[in-house]
Amino acid sequence: MTRIIAVTGKGGTGKTAITAMLMRHLVKDDNLVLAVDADPDTNLPDALGCEIDHTLGEMREFMLNERDNFPPDSNKESVLESKVYEAINEMDDYDLLVMGRPEGPGCYCYVNNLLRGIMTRLVTNYDAVIIDTEAGLEHFSRKLIPEIDDLIVVTDGSKRGMQTGERIRQLVGELETKVKNVYVVANKVTESNRELIEQNAKDLDLRLLGAVPVDKIIEERDLKGLPLFDLPDESVAIKEINNIANDLNL
Ligand SMILES: Nc1ncnc2c1ncn2[C@@H]1O[C@H](COP(=O)(O)OP(=O)(O)OP(=O)(O)O)[C@@H](O)[C@H]1O
Ligand SMILES: [Mg+2]
Repeated sequence: MTRIIAVTGKGGTGKTAITAMLMRHLVKDDNLVLAVDADPDTNLPDALGCEIDHTLGEMREFMLNERDNFPPDSNKESVLESKVYEAINEMDDYDLLVMGRPEGPGCYCYVNNLLRGIMTRLVTNYDAVIIDTEAGLEHFSRKLIPEIDDLIVVTDGSKRGMQTGERIRQLVGELETKVKNVYVVANKVTESNRELIEQNAKDLDLRLLGAVPVDKIIEERDLKGLPLFDLPDESVAIKEINNIANDLNL
């Protein structure tokens, strides 16, 4: 069974950072792991510290441009399927699929319809899949990923941030994507707002999985443009991520 984890939340809360830090746990024990960057801004490769050769966006574009040129008896789904496999960037410890940005104004419904079936099959090749999403839930309504085991809502810990968490949970209930568990992770937490965050989560009946502190090492790495995948063990964020991974049984 593949464990599918998606990380969502408002812009700038730390979705990509949390995804990169959780990857450290996912890749252990030689697990086969697929990381998906579903944000058109494509920040996950930098956070993981890797170079990518292809995006799924390029393959989608190809299908859209070429679909009328295929011989009538060709199986377009299998052509696209081989293109999706081409788009997977193979790293030493994991695979990385980058969605990229749609280039043209064209209608992608046709390609997205084909992609849905392909993605459903693709994820079964892995022990775990983790998806770094763009802010908002639009990608879920496109339903490229039919089922999610753990939806992690990252908030910045403010009351407003928590309400977004609550709103997302309501939205999830209305979506057709099946989501088994919804959790909240507060990020960039300080000593002064920690208690308030815990109280807010309680008031809203949200499952607060952890509170990741503001981390000086992450801030330094940001300045130098360094990845977050290999943060040292003394990083305060990593310590809390270890607890979170433990709670999630990763
Ligand atoms: N715990 C933390 N301590 C210090 N800095 C952090 C922490 N978590 C994230 N950051 C920094 O905050 C900034 C925003 O984080 P990140 O890019 O992960 O957010 P995001 O939610 O993915 O943003 P976007 O919505 O743009 O995709 C980054 O510079 C990141 O390194
Ligand atoms: Mg991001």
